[in-house]
Amino acid sequence: MSSPNPPERRPVAAATAGHLDEPSSESPISNLTVVGGNPLNGTMRVGGAKNSALKLMAASLLAEGTYRLCNVPRITDVALMSEVLRSIGCTVHWEASDPVPDLIIEVPSEIEPVAPYELVEKFRASIVVLGPLLARCGEARVALPGGDDFGPRPIDMHMRGLGELGAVFENVHGYIHASAPKLRGTRILLEFPSVGATENILMAAVLAEGTTVIDNAAREPEIADLCEMLNKMGAGIVGAGSATLTITGATEMHSSDHTVIPDRVEAATYLAAVGVTGGEITIRGARHDHMAMLCQKLGEMGMRISPDADGLWVLAPTRLRSVDCPTLPYPGLATDFMPFLVALLATTEGVGIVTENLFAGRFKYVDELRRMGADIRTDTHHAVVRGVDRLSGAPVKAHDIRAGAALVVAGLGAEGSTVVSDAHHVARGYEDLAGKLVALGPDVTVS
Ligand code: EPU
Repeated sequence: MSSPNPPERRPVAAATAGHLDEPSSESPISNLTVVGGNPLNGTMRVGGAKNSALKLMAASLLAEGTYRLCNVPRITDVALMSEVLRSIGCTVHWEASDPVPDLIIEVPSEIEPVAPYELVEKFRASIVVLGPLLARCGEARVALPGGDDFGPRPIDMHMRGLGELGAVFENVHGYIHASAPKLRGTRILLEFPSVGATENILMAAVLAEGTTVIDNAAREPEIADLCEMLNKMGAGIVGAGSATLTITGATEMHSSDHTVIPDRVEAATYLAAVGVTGGEITIRGARHDHMAMLCQKLGEMGMRISPDADGLWVLAPTRLRSVDCPTLPYPGLATDFMPFLVALLATTEGVGIVTENLFAGRFKYVDELRRMGADIRTDTHHAVVRGVDRLSGAPVKAHDIRAGAALVVAGLGAEGSTVVSDAHHVARGYEDLAGKLVALGPDVTVS
């Protein structure tokens, strides 16, 4: 059984609701300090999915009007995407609502189809404005995103797909200049089910002339969420959540309200956390159907997880068994879960082999886990994790969002204090990770 998406909510006294303060796009958090040893017990609520909210924000560029997005996480990456939309000419603000504020985007009739380097270099998800800008304005100038701390992240599949729809590209002074006075539907076969390429092509195809078919499309729940919002805006997409998306081009689209799906990666963080410490928690809002493979793996390790009407109930004994974990596109085990699973395997009974099939070089955090006493050997795509009895708290550094959260997870079970520096990375993807953990029992402080 799966729990439903959070219900569409009405704003609190919409006519009078005040605008809320904008969360900063520069996180004030530098360190997260974890004193290990407390089990997790109690109930928490998972927030809206970062990787859905960012794309829904980009989708708003397709049509003039006012959009109310509910269940958007108040995280740094959303603040940065708000900056991108503002630089394009939109107005973006938060409005009080229950249980979490809504994000209101107002898109004017005239927009400036440019995403500047100063913003794109801070977070590469902003590349998803390329498709909607091109479809709406017939041209776009988007700064080329750089690499990431977990290796090169090319956008060749985005450009090839958009090219097949009729876009032409020029690389000028670090910017992609894309133009397409007319986009025409066609059949596009992706060589890999890339999340970002599927999203960019989808958001261009909704306004192309005729029918577009994307084969070997990514099937992640965040893409199905994007399809749902695009259809509410007037798009004709069939096959959401499957590997074949058929898009009948619309001549125009309109604004719409939408509620973001729950964040399966945030939920996975708490699943791993309770796996490390032992305990019993309920994760309200988490959708079992979005993370079935992870729940199966954790079950093999000895955890009990069962879906209830509004989330997941989770029971973890004090020590789990090791299993092998390969990452694959959805519905396989997500690459974003892997840092938490490695942190968990660091203290389980036995040896687990982790195979990272998506990103070469996503194992930088392993060096940090080794500083905590973990026994892990890696090559570019594999980690052999031999569980030790207990990790030992140490100063460690977050290299990216998930790596930082994984070090916090490891610290929860370690002896003594773990200080995770460069924790601003964590704030890019987590709303109040420390506060939510403290409410379940652990000792975590922010500085
Ligand atoms: N790839 C190419 N060429 C392309 C596009 C992708 O070679 O044109 C390769 C990538 O280098 C990678 C693989 O294809 O090896 C998969 O990349 P994908 O395009 O699917 O990833 P993404 O869209 O860049 C999103 C998430 C990531 C998540 C991946 C995989 C967002 C903002 N980011 O990235 O999330 O790891 O999908 O599921 O949606 C995170 O949230 O911390 C995060 C990194």
